[in-house]
Amino acid sequence: MKEAIILKSPDEIETMRRAGAVVAEVLEVLKENIRPGVTTLDLEKIAEELTKARKASPAFKGYRGYPFCLCTSINSEVVHGMPSKRALKEGDIVSVDYGARVDGFYGDAAFTAPVGKVSEEASRLVRVTAQSLAKAIEAAQEGNRLQDISAAVQSHVEPEGFSVVREFVGHGIGRELHEPPQVPNFGIPGRGVRLKAGMVLAIEPMINSGGWAVKVLSDGWTAVTADGKLSAHFEHTVAITPGGPLVLTAI
Ligand code: MF3
Ligand code: CO
Repeated sequence: MKEAIILKSPDEIETMRRAGAVVAEVLEVLKENIRPGVTTLDLEKIAEELTKARKASPAFKGYRGYPFCLCTSINSEVVHGMPSKRALKEGDIVSVDYGARVDGFYGDAAFTAPVGKVSEEASRLVRVTAQSLAKAIEAAQEGNRLQDISAAVQSHVEPEGFSVVREFVGHGIGRELHEPPQVPNFGIPGRGVRLKAGMVLAIEPMINSGGWAVKVLSDGWTAVTADGKLSAHFEHTVAITPGGPLVLTAI
């Protein structure tokens, strides 16, 4: 039997909104700091200080031994890139993924940003991936099925010639960073569990400009595209409510 999905009460969703607000604010500041010459470790330090100032806990640091508050994934890095002294340079795209815990509940979100001027292909990948998350969120309606979310991503990106990463998926989120169900970014409309008010999902399309295959580097974390082509990643924590999807990690 599959593990049950933990439904959240309106009060719990309110607490998750506060966690989500911290995540949104921190990501906003990080976005403003992305420019050529900035290192991903500079971004990590900003995130660490802002988390402390907001009396929140970083969600990723210590998770299965992961040593940072942020995942910073550049160009062909898909997810789980680690902050380092590597400086961002004009033409790069960088994904910044951050989570925080407030009063026992998690928020989790990510964006991909261009560094200065980027190629037409890179900018199209970033734009289409962001759009696919918006489509997925629209599909996160009570009464729909889980794979309606998945299919919304897949049907938006594949006609653009991009591919959906298979090995990493979105997830339920609440008192744990990762809860059931898994939320793939590929699927068949009308399949999967029925979406109910009180479900909270971290929806996170990871989209490659080439093929979908990825491999994990010898650091044990950094996932890169197998073909070396670009990858983009956007994520929001979304509550399913009677009034429609509520993006908890929106500004
Ligand atoms: N947003 C990613 C996720 O939900 C980040 C996890 S990084 C880890 O899986 F280090 F915490 F694993
Ligand atoms: Co996540």
